[in-house]
Amino acid sequence: MRIIITDSIEEFNIKAADIVSQQISSNPRTVFGAPTGETPLGLYRELVDRCKAGAIDFSQATCFSLDEYIGISPDHSQSSHYYMHNNFLKHINISEENIFIPNGMTQDIFGECRSYDNMIDSYGGIDFLILGIGQNGHIGFNEPADTFPSSSHLVELKESTINANARFFENKLDVPRYAITVGVKTIMQAKKVLLMAHGNSKTAAMQKALEEDVTPQVPASILQYHHDVTIIADKAAASRLGKE
Ligand code: PGA
Repeated sequence: MRIIITDSIEEFNIKAADIVSQQISSNPRTVFGAPTGETPLGLYRELVDRCKAGAIDFSQATCFSLDEYIGISPDHSQSSHYYMHNNFLKHINISEENIFIPNGMTQDIFGECRSYDNMIDSYGGIDFLILGIGQNGHIGFNEPADTFPSSSHLVELKESTINANARFFENKLDVPRYAITVGVKTIMQAKKVLLMAHGNSKTAAMQKALEEDVTPQVPASILQYHHDVTIIADKAAASRLGKE
């Protein structure tokens, strides 16, 4: 694992964007996986600016979103569809037909999960996976569990995730309780992973994930077994790393 620790949020966003830019310029046909959440917002803004300036070209790239809430429509302001389009995808030159996001309104969740995995497989898997980390150590919406879920699946969100994400909704009761997420197999088969974390709320999760035992109770800990992970963290999120 390589770890980059940044002094400021500006540096965090720029360094992350440099890594993504390098990936896209070395392979313009990159299939990338992309998360929602607060963490990558600055990265997406930076990539949008670079794309508008002609410094990065997404025209041949493909994007798979990692997850979607169940039961909220694509035009809901907290859906992954809305988030990904409005914060990132509609501002860059990616083709609409190269954007994939699970359908959280489906009547056939298991069929949707199967076809999402098949679609990822048909592209040869993910070349470059961008990940955030939940305060409880989740990646995508792979929540703490007794086993690592392999394939895309329906997940019941943990109370800790609902509490963490309540800030995006008017009322905590509005936070969906279920989501579709890609599974750990898709994550581990990605050729490269960029794990991003900033702020004090991620300090404990980062330490558990990167320095303690690999366990499905801390899903991000599986990344210890991945062969090509770059971590970008600010000083706060990295403050307990390498201390014991
Ligand atoms: P955040 O969420 O970026 O909003 O902190 C990360 C996550 O839950 O994976």
